[in-house]
Amino acid sequence: MDTKVRIGRVALGIAAVGFLAAAGQLQALDNGLARTPPMGWNSWNKFACNVSEDLIKQAADAMVSSGMQDAGYQYVVIDDCWQVDRDAQGNIVPDAKHFPSGIKSLADYVHGKGLKFGIYSDAGTGTCQNRPGGRGYEFQDARQYAAWGVDYLKYDWCNHSTQDSQASYSIMRDALKKSGRPIVFSLCEWGSTKPWLWAGDVGNLWRSTGDIVDKWEGSEKWGGLGVVQILDLQDGLQSYAGPGHWNDPDMLEVGNGGMNLTEYRAHFSMWCLLAAPLMAGNDIRSMSADIHDILTNKEVIAIDQDPLGREGHRVKRADGLEVWAKQLADGGRAVALLNRTGAEANITVSWTDIGYPVHVPAKVRDLWAKKDLGEKTGSFSASVPSHGVVMVRIEP
Ligand code: GLA
Repeated sequence: MDTKVRIGRVALGIAAVGFLAAAGQLQALDNGLARTPPMGWNSWNKFACNVSEDLIKQAADAMVSSGMQDAGYQYVVIDDCWQVDRDAQGNIVPDAKHFPSGIKSLADYVHGKGLKFGIYSDAGTGTCQNRPGGRGYEFQDARQYAAWGVDYLKYDWCNHSTQDSQASYSIMRDALKKSGRPIVFSLCEWGSTKPWLWAGDVGNLWRSTGDIVDKWEGSEKWGGLGVVQILDLQDGLQSYAGPGHWNDPDMLEVGNGGMNLTEYRAHFSMWCLLAAPLMAGNDIRSMSADIHDILTNKEVIAIDQDPLGREGHRVKRADGLEVWAKQLADGGRAVALLNRTGAEANITVSWTDIGYPVHVPAKVRDLWAKKDLGEKTGSFSASVPSHGVVMVRIEP
C-alpha cells in the first residue's frame, strides 16, 4: 500500500468514528434486532386483501427455492386482512376461511423453512381495511403474537382519531417487550408526524413517506407516490438511520409490472443505497429471470446490508442528473449515478463529492455489470440510461 493510500484510509477511519459518535446521540431501541435493514417479502403491494395461508406458504416455499433466502431475505409478512373480529374475551380473531389452520400453524410452517414470520396490525381502532385495530388491546395482542411465534410486526396508523403517535407506538413497543419474544417493530405512520425525530427508541424501522405506487414518477390524490417522489423525501433523513433503527421508504414494487427493467433496477439500487428495509412486494412464485436477478444481486444487497449501517444521500444534482453516495464499513463508497431525465446522459462523480482527496487512486467496480472497471483517480464517469442507474463500489 503506498503512502497516499494509507493516509487516505486513516482519514476515512477518522471520518467514520466522527459519524458514529454523532449517531450515538440518537437513542436506539435495544431489542437487539434489525442490526442491518430487515429483508423479506410482504403480501400487500401485489395481493392487497387477497391473502390466505396457501399464499403465505407458497411465498415461503418460493423464498427458499428461488434463492432469495440465500440472498438474505428472511421475513415472510402477512399485511392487512388476515383478521376479522375480536371474540368475547377481546382476543383477535383470524379469518378462518382463508387461514383454516390458524396463525400458529402458519408461523410453524414458515419457521420450518428456516424463515421468520411477520404480521400486521394498526395503532388505531381499525386497520386501513377496517379490520380490528390494536388500540386498547396492545398487551393482549402482543402476548398473542408471541404465542403464535410472530417475529415481525408492522403497525399501521389508520383510524387513530386524536391519538398521539409517539405515545401510541410506545405502548406497543412496551407490550412487545413484555411479551418476552424478540419481535421486529415496524412503524407505519407514513412520516406524518416525523417519526425519524422520535422513533429511534420506539421502533426498528419507520415509514418515512406515504405509500409507494408501482411507477417511476408521480403522485396519487390519495397520497401514493412514485419512486422518484419517495427518493426526494429521503434526502436529509440519513442521519436518523443506523443499526436497529431505519428510515423505511416503503416496500419494493420490483416485478409488479408498472415499470420497465431499467426503472426496477434503479428502484432496487436506490433502496439499497438508502439502507432501506428490502421487503419484496411481487409474486415471487412466478417472477421472471430478470426480476429474480434484480432482487438477488448479492453485490447490490451487500451495499444495503453494509455493517456500518449508514444511509446514503444525494451529494450532487443538476438538471435531473444526480449522484448519491453511501459510506461503507471498509472506508469505500457505494455510488449511484441516477438519470431522471428522458434521455441517456453522462454522469460524473468526483472524489471530492464523496469525501476523498482528488489524488487518491481508487478501484471502481460496476455492481450490475459485475465487472471491475480498473483504478481511477479524481473522478469516475459513466453513460446512464434514461430512468436508470449505474451503481459502483469505489475503494481507495
Ligand atoms: C396502509 C399502509 C400500506 C398497507 C395498507 C394496508 O396504506 O401504508 O403499506 O399496509 O395500509 O391496508
